[in-house]
Amino acid sequence: MPMHEANRMLRLPPYLFTIVDNWKREVRAQGMDVIDFSMGNPDFEPPPHVTAALREALKMKGIHKYSKWDEEIERNLRRAISKWYFERFAVELDPDKEVLPLIGSKEGIAHLSLAFLNNDDLALVPSPAYPVHFNGVIMAGGILYNIPLKEENHYLPDFSTIPRETTRLSKLMFLSYPHNPTTATCDLEFFQKTIHWGQDKNIIVAHDLTYSDIVFGAKKAHSLLEVKGSRKFCIEFHTLSKSYSMPGWRLGFVVGNRDILASIAKTKSYVDFGIFRAIQYAATAALTGPQGYVKNLVTAYKKRIDYFIDGMNRIGWKSKKPSATFYSWHRIPQPYHQLTSMEFTEILMRETGVAVAPGTGFGEQGEGYVRFAMVVPEARMKVALERIQKFLTQKV
Ligand SMILES: Cc1ncc(COP(=O)(O)O)c(C=O)c1O
Repeated sequence: MPMHEANRMLRLPPYLFTIVDNWKREVRAQGMDVIDFSMGNPDFEPPPHVTAALREALKMKGIHKYSKWDEEIERNLRRAISKWYFERFAVELDPDKEVLPLIGSKEGIAHLSLAFLNNDDLALVPSPAYPVHFNGVIMAGGILYNIPLKEENHYLPDFSTIPRETTRLSKLMFLSYPHNPTTATCDLEFFQKTIHWGQDKNIIVAHDLTYSDIVFGAKKAHSLLEVKGSRKFCIEFHTLSKSYSMPGWRLGFVVGNRDILASIAKTKSYVDFGIFRAIQYAATAALTGPQGYVKNLVTAYKKRIDYFIDGMNRIGWKSKKPSATFYSWHRIPQPYHQLTSMEFTEILMRETGVAVAPGTGFGEQGEGYVRFAMVVPEARMKVALERIQKFLTQKV
């Protein structure tokens, strides 16, 4: 029987990371050792007190039941998120109305579009961006307006370039700083400008703050909700995947405007049964327990970044050190710069076994770049650098 996927699925761009995964599988099958920088999938262990809390939770009565909004474990998690936000950003949140735990922030981001976009409603999405920001819009039937993020503008959007009619027809806008994949950061002034721009527009502004903890040096990442007036039309996504190296646990959350959150919760209630209680219990331990882990994690990523970028600069593939996130964003190097990022990713993988993420996996403005995720220990980075050096000098 012929299978016909829904039109909304056919409108999705090919998921380039699946193609990269297939190449990885192919070269491994040929006996090549793959060094995998392609996915932002943390390789560190979560904090021991969090895994201990998970083990403890597994012994609790009723822990395997469906999750219930008003029971203790769930309420404690919402309170923990609210307290964490206050301590971190001095933002006060009502734990029952302005906090919504998610099965990973990716799930919530996709459900936001589903909750608010009618067929052919416009959404403003920066390019490049984390893929679910645009793919969620397409799956919901919406139309994308890409706001280009340019290196010369420090990868910040220029709102004045968006046509007035486009703005009028838009229902949703995504932002995310510190930014994946470019590693760009922004200051509070940019968020103030965003709120000033958005206050009379009837557009939901969704900020993805996944990398708030992974910032190097004295600067701190800000919450969009720090800005006065933001609560009227803004929400913010967060996750425990990166700060506590718990990506497979699937624990994220969204905070901010209560009506927007209620609509996401309503959408979710038709699809899922919430988060496994044991994970909620352990996530509460992560947010309320000692935070030394996060500090050490940031130091460990910084050490990797310094090692890797120093090495890349030494072998002639020049780039600046990022000031946040655990990625590095590189222009395709000179001898190969005529290739697309997909072509370059494939050739690099087939010749060296080094897997990276192609820039166009993050949208069309990612063309000309590839992203390395620092989820590889330094000993393996050393091998990768040697292989890349050989690969680059062969071509010259
Ligand atoms: C910017 C951004 N948002 C969201 C996510 C998804 O995180 P989660 O594991 O919470 O779904 C990621 C994961 O890489 C990300 O980089």
